[in-house]
Amino acid sequence: MIKGELLYEGKGKRLYKSDDENLLISEFKDDLTAFNAEKKGNESGKGALNCKISTQLFHLLEQKGILTHLVDVISENEQVVKKCKILPIEIIVRNVATGSLTKRLGIKDGTVLPFALVEFCLKDDALGDPFINDEHCLLLNLVKDKEQIAQIKTIARKINEILLNFFDTKNLRLIDFKIELGLTKDNELVLADEISPDSCRFWDKDTNEKLDKDRFRQDLGNVKMAYEEILKRILS
Ligand code: C5P
Repeated sequence: MIKGELLYEGKGKRLYKSDDENLLISEFKDDLTAFNAEKKGNESGKGALNCKISTQLFHLLEQKGILTHLVDVISENEQVVKKCKILPIEIIVRNVATGSLTKRLGIKDGTVLPFALVEFCLKDDALGDPFINDEHCLLLNLVKDKEQIAQIKTIARKINEILLNFFDTKNLRLIDFKIELGLTKDNELVLADEISPDSCRFWDKDTNEKLDKDRFRQDLGNVKMAYEEILKRILS
């Protein structure tokens, strides 16, 4: 596979063309950003860790019937992925209240939610990725129709169920996570982007120690060690 022209650089990844017009190369970066990139950092090896973690989780989800963009892994921080049109929506699933949910609604940090809460944010850095609801999605033509919103929520909840059960066996609590979905050339809705400690919150089941990007956001230290611990447990 030949790595072609750089198509897009995001906060956590670079996307390149490949010699197959239907496939792209996704390169995971070592950069860390938080608070809409107001806070910036870098951890050597973080990209490779996230690539490995995300690959494992995408394989697990594929085995359980979730369609994903992942095709192959070609280096320690590069995946071959299906070219798709990413929906400009960040889909967030929460099992436990923390982060922006506690700030917005005053729910006590650590409260176990009675059901998995699915939320949407508009993917727009200039606007600060604002929270939006189903009707905003329709109004802004972010989705095709109401059925597609229902389909997105169904996929998000199914991914949550699979990951909750999986991480429970690894002595980890899946607190919340963000996913992105894309439409392939065949109009299939697939899981895209990544699932990693950059985009999820994991707390140790025994100690509630944070093992995710909150270590960077909150200056808790040992960021890379936490990501290594997540990979170790996934592979155990
Ligand atoms: O900050 P907030 O509490 O809304 O984040 C919820 C979840 O979504 C967290 O797991 C966070 O890592 C993830 N997220 C993300 N990218 C964003 C916003 C949130 O991965 N732009």
